[in-house]
Amino acid sequence: MTDPVTVVDAMERMSGLHPGFRRAHALGRCYDATFTPSGAAAAYTAAAHLRGEPTPAIVRYSNTAGDPGQPDAGPAVRGMAVKFLSPETDLVALNVPVFMASTPAKFLDMTRALTDKPSGSQQRADAVVAFITANPESVHAFQEAATIPVPESYATIRFWAQHAFVWVGPDGTRRFVRYRWEPDAGLHHLTAEDSADWGPGHLLDELADRLPVSFTLKVQFAGPEDPTADPTQPWPADRPEIDAGRLEVVKPVADQEFWDQAVFDPTRLAEGIELSDDPVLAYRKQAYAEGRRRRAAGH
Ligand code: HEM
Repeated sequence: MTDPVTVVDAMERMSGLHPGFRRAHALGRCYDATFTPSGAAAAYTAAAHLRGEPTPAIVRYSNTAGDPGQPDAGPAVRGMAVKFLSPETDLVALNVPVFMASTPAKFLDMTRALTDKPSGSQQRADAVVAFITANPESVHAFQEAATIPVPESYATIRFWAQHAFVWVGPDGTRRFVRYRWEPDAGLHHLTAEDSADWGPGHLLDELADRLPVSFTLKVQFAGPEDPTADPTQPWPADRPEIDAGRLEVVKPVADQEFWDQAVFDPTRLAEGIELSDDPVLAYRKQAYAEGRRRRAAGH
């Protein structure tokens, strides 16, 4: 069963229940930003936010933990969710290039492997190995997650939206693309020891002192044989890319509570962009709505 109630129930077992918070990426903060298109995307998509004038955006940076009290230390998965406001469309990214599960059912299997047996037990380690053995396509993401560097700042991390999307050009031509945010400050890493005393939200506080910061939106075009339905599989690095524009993250939003209640839904697309055949991408709409339903109800 991959109904979203079952899946979100399983996610809650990862970090315990924290009423009112997201079931993943519980601790985050939102920022005002502006996206300025370079013009390079205009030949390939009719999407207004990627081809015209600068557009306002809201950015949410977060630690992946479902527990908002989890320290920020170490090589954690982290998120950068962007909501372009005109037209409203969301682009949700992580600091790893590929996902750990190729279907929603496998995501549920993985979540169970990570939670069903007692924390730190040999049975849990065995369950994770069994999941990876049964799903060899997930090896790449587990390797990536195991080697994530500790960042100096949210402003020095590379973020990937992982899924393929379809760009529909002004002439109707359809192309598969993938998105990546490149930090304009460059990639700067620390060691796990450097971060040992970081408390929850350390990197959110660091960002407050550093703003404004900026990212370039890189868009990669698929080759004819590249997989479009499987977020566990990267495309070769030599595929053609464009710089679609630059995002300047300026200051914390005035109303954190309002924006923290928003949903950043990767299936909320602008005209000129469509979902690919990736089942995980399509599924996220239901899972995020279920997560939002629970936290809005104070659960
Ligand atoms: C079956 C697969 C997945 C499920 C069930 C799932 C589930 C969730 C849920 C329930 C939330 C909290 C939503 C809310 O309360 O607003 C969330 C947040 C998030 N997820 Fe996923 N997710 C999945 C795949 C992915 C993938 C592939 C990415 C890669 C980009 C990703 C990145 C994020 C990020 C960055 C957030 C935080 C968004 C924010 O700041 O509002 N997730 N996920």
